Amino acid sequence: MKTYAIAAIPGDGIGKEVIAAGLKVLDALAMRDGAFKLDVRSYDWGSDYYRKHGRMMPEDGLAEIRDADAIFFGAVGAPDVPDHITLWGLRLAICQPFDQYANVRPTRILPGIVSPLAGVTAKDLDWVIVRENSEGEYAGVGGRAHRGLPEEVATDVAIFTRVGVERIMRFAFKLAQSRPRKLLTIVTKSNAQRHGMVMWDEIAAAVAKDYPDVTTDKMLVDAMTVRMTLKPGSLDTIVATNLHADILSDLASALSGSIGVAPTANINPERRFPSMFEPIHGSAFDITGMGIANPIGTFWSVVMMLEHLDEPAGAARLMRAIERVTADPHFHTPDLGGKARTSEVTGAVIAAIHGAND
Ligand code: NAI
Ligand code: MG
Repeated sequence: MKTYAIAAIPGDGIGKEVIAAGLKVLDALAMRDGAFKLDVRSYDWGSDYYRKHGRMMPEDGLAEIRDADAIFFGAVGAPDVPDHITLWGLRLAICQPFDQYANVRPTRILPGIVSPLAGVTAKDLDWVIVRENSEGEYAGVGGRAHRGLPEEVATDVAIFTRVGVERIMRFAFKLAQSRPRKLLTIVTKSNAQRHGMVMWDEIAAAVAKDYPDVTTDKMLVDAMTVRMTLKPGSLDTIVATNLHADILSDLASALSGSIGVAPTANINPERRFPSMFEPIHGSAFDITGMGIANPIGTFWSVVMMLEHLDEPAGAARLMRAIERVTADPHFHTPDLGGKARTSEVTGAVIAAIHGAND
């Protein structure tokens, strides 16, 4: 029997609440079929660690999690620590050196959940957004000079490399090819960003030749927000830059019911490094400690983790359990308009895992 080493990094705020819930669900799955075992190591990195040690994770932290089979991440962000310190000090400090260049964000309207778009149901909205996860505005290139003076200057340089763009395109084309509609929408902004985005378009067109069975179309990112809202059914797989897809995927999660249900995988496709799985939401200061965080996005991230670990049966079992629970509005947390607590949703998903005969 396989044993998977999981590095759990709950981080801050509701990250701690949803990762605790996610680990219980993972445990229940491992027990249900006896198909695999877990070796979970938890790390207390985050803003509490920062307040004690002046950094978000230890200097040799990456070496500690380098051999994990997967990283299970909550969220970072605290009201008293600047966001760029928490983000760059932990989440990006893992994504970048572990070359998790493909960020995958599925969006569907789960059973029982109502989209804020009138008349739009599950059959009209079933997307996967592929976010380039290593370059663009998040490459970390830029700086500030003449601080505090009237002539102060600040730059964030959007970096696009041929290698970086080509590898995310190939990843997106392969993913689109694996889905029934074989439809890939390439999001760009090549009217205004006339260097990086034009190269992005050229590389997309060249890579498309290797995937003749995939239909492609191209959208400018601003028009894409309109299409997602007014014609959700016309989209399937979507590929976009780090910044564009960051924004579009928050919109996608809202259109599917709540940011609380949306999952993410940060993948190193070559498996040279561990990949990282997390809900897309942040630490949500406004509801921290109230016991009402929606854990569904975290559970769905566990589904993606199990798929990555090549445990398709466990992944499918958990997805069925999630869908059985969301179908009952009694188990909707307040972000979905309900009254359920994190613990009740978690208990219901665990019961569905144990109770199911399929
Ligand atoms: P957020 O995602 O934490 O919260 C946005 C809104 O959605 C809030 O009203 C929150 O209560 C609600 N929400 C989020 N997740 C929910 C859940 N599971 N259940 C119910 N409601 C939920 O984003 P915000 O407020 O912009 O950022 C808060 C902090 O999180 C900041 O420090 C930010 O930098 C950080 N952040 C971290 C991310 C990460 O670690 N991957 C991602 C996004 C933000
Ligand atoms: Mg975001």
